[in-house]
Amino acid sequence: MSIIREVKEESRREMLKRISAHSHIRGLGLDEKGEPLPVADGLVGQIEARRAAGIVVRMIKEGRLAGRGILFVGPPGSGKTALAIAIARELGEDTPFVMINGAELYSAEVKKTEILMRAVRRAIGVRFKEIRRVYEGVVKDIKFALTSHPFNPYVKVPRAARITLATKDEEKTLEVDESIAMQLAQHGIRRGDMISIDADTGEVFKLGRVKGIEKAKYFDVESTRVFEEMPKGKIFKEKEIIRTVTLHDLDEAYAAQRRAVFSIIGGLLEEREIDPEIRKNVDELVRKHLSEGKVTLVPGVLFIDDVHMLDIESFSFLSRVLESEFSPIVIMATNRGMTKIRGTDIESPHGIPLDLLDRLLIIPVRPYTPDEMREIIMIRSDEEDVKLSKDAIEALVKIASERSLRYAVQLMHPAKIIADRKGRDEVRAEDVEEAAKLFMDVSLSIEFAKKWESKFLK
Ligand SMILES: Nc1ncnc2c1ncn2[C@@H]1O[C@H](COP(=O)(O)OP(=O)(O)OP(=O)(O)O)[C@@H](O)[C@H]1O
Ligand SMILES: [Mg+2]
Repeated sequence: MSIIREVKEESRREMLKRISAHSHIRGLGLDEKGEPLPVADGLVGQIEARRAAGIVVRMIKEGRLAGRGILFVGPPGSGKTALAIAIARELGEDTPFVMINGAELYSAEVKKTEILMRAVRRAIGVRFKEIRRVYEGVVKDIKFALTSHPFNPYVKVPRAARITLATKDEEKTLEVDESIAMQLAQHGIRRGDMISIDADTGEVFKLGRVKGIEKAKYFDVESTRVFEEMPKGKIFKEKEIIRTVTLHDLDEAYAAQRRAVFSIIGGLLEEREIDPEIRKNVDELVRKHLSEGKVTLVPGVLFIDDVHMLDIESFSFLSRVLESEFSPIVIMATNRGMTKIRGTDIESPHGIPLDLLDRLLIIPVRPYTPDEMREIIMIRSDEEDVKLSKDAIEALVKIASERSLRYAVQLMHPAKIIADRKGRDEVRAEDVEEAAKLFMDVSLSIEFAKKWESKFLK
């Protein structure tokens, strides 16, 4: 089970791409007792919803929520997505967090239930201990042997490296091959870094910086952990590592193994979906290790934004997931009131079937007051590096109240460009108004489309 890792990282990276509008959010902003501070961690107001979200985080951490669902309900721009992301930030690296949007299910190539299934399995972690053989120590010296890049002779890439590692008790010089040298270069390993190299896979991990190494340069602020003292012990050693992989990682590893076998015997396997048989095998394996106490299950979080986009088939799939043995915590968000469940003529609250709704804890998210909107706009302008004059802030607050907060937030950057063209680095109300004329929000665009309906392509 140790050959595969880090697919979780991919999901985090994917998530990060999507949350740039929420980059100012660093957590739920709660005090030690779980009480929301008025403005903290980039979050403003929304006190009750944040208190509820804090309780959710605690239940997730205590493992009390698996197989249950949470639903954020509120008008557009009220902070539902922001709150879900704040929950993710509170959870820590080891709890899988997967984010999908209801609209993503409709792909031409992969079945909806397969996309959901994948997301579900990526949201369930399996944690286990592993004994690895590693070289670990502080970098005292590092030298690369360079060669020309195969496609671009002007670029030099490392072909090998010679690296001296040290602890309090020992010093060792290693010659490493290209793949390790590349990793050393990519991680930007320099003198004073504490690193660990897996002796079998060659994987390089940067563990932090150690103070006081000769010829090493130190900055006031280091981006990694700083150790005051040299580590003790041997450089080459066995080390217990705790790892979390997801069920999806295991599915993929199994599938890859099988593909390898098939390609040896000449079979051609074009796979877009993972065979249910593979998942069954993985589940069995995990169950076996669970009962032997070799692994623990880490139910993570599957966040489905705009959940009203799901159709009846997907909803019934979700209900089944919530009941199954390995199930993540499902958090959903919607801005719909009474509406038809997709794929049916049945009206239901939030477009969600009643039997599923019945199992959810629902957290209401209320619209913001103008004061809260002002605060959020100011935080965002700081984050986006947009300087707003007083009257520009008020213009944006007005737009946020009349249209939506999201629209107001989105206008900020165009307004900055307009101001910039006029040779100012401060955005004024007139720039905001001009931006609002150039870019419309949804309700205006519908009016516009209606007015010119006959001229649009059909
Ligand atoms: N309480 C808050 N504190 C700070 N920023 C917030 C807060 N609520 C929302 N925001 C920011 O305001 C913008 C709009 O919020 P968000 O996208 O979360 O709304 P939503 O409820 O998910 O809307 P929709 O229903 O349209 O999806 C985002 O940039 C978000 O980060
Ligand atoms: Mg949203």
